[in-house]
Amino acid sequence: MQDFLSVLKSRRTVRSYTAEPVREQDLQELIDLAVLAPTGMGAQPWAFTVVTSSEVMRQLNAIVLGVLRSPHMQPFLASEGMQEWVSRPNADIFYGAPALIGISGNAQAPSTAIDCQLAAENLFLAAHAKGLGTCYMGFLVMTAESPQIQTCLRIPEGHRLLAAAVVGHPALPPDGPPKRNPARIEWVR
Ligand SMILES: Cc1cc2nc3c(=O)[nH]c(=O)nc-3n(C[C@H](O)[C@H](O)[C@H](O)COP(=O)(O)O)c2cc1C
Repeated sequence: MQDFLSVLKSRRTVRSYTAEPVREQDLQELIDLAVLAPTGMGAQPWAFTVVTSSEVMRQLNAIVLGVLRSPHMQPFLASEGMQEWVSRPNADIFYGAPALIGISGNAQAPSTAIDCQLAAENLFLAAHAKGLGTCYMGFLVMTAESPQIQTCLRIPEGHRLLAAAVVGHPALPPDGPPKRNPARIEWVR
């Protein structure tokens, strides 16, 4: 296994997966590592949904695309390229991945949204360390108020889907290290 800093430096979003399933014990381990993230006041306000049913993923894809294609969503799609991608008949927001993990937060917790994103980042890094690929599912989170999605994902009462990721075996060699703009830093010495 790579050392931690190499994992951090080489993680990339993966948008192409093999059909090989991810073992349930690996998915369980990712969640066990995700919940090690810090939480405001130690609230641990999350509930996880793990979907490995290709039929449910197909249904979710259709529901999300249906919402994204509606006129009121067009301003939220960042670019014309994105609008065109969403309108493709074979668009797959899950990129063929065999598993989806949703992270829902208890709306009563003081920092539920932050807590769930921190858990998601743990999950991304843990998956990469294990040789698995991930992609954040922003489209699913954007449309998660849809009652159909809440039912499909079995979101518990009082919770909201706040983060989600597909997990799978990457079909292509990883992209190179992430390119980032230099961070703006004010050194106050
Ligand atoms: C909040 C959030 C939402 C995202 N939603 C999507 C998405 O819906 N589909 C997708 O393909 N990538 C999505 N991404 C992945 C980003 O496009 C990706 O992280 C970014 O381009 C940087 O690339 P890297 O992860 O390879 O460093 C999302 C990332 C974040 C943080």
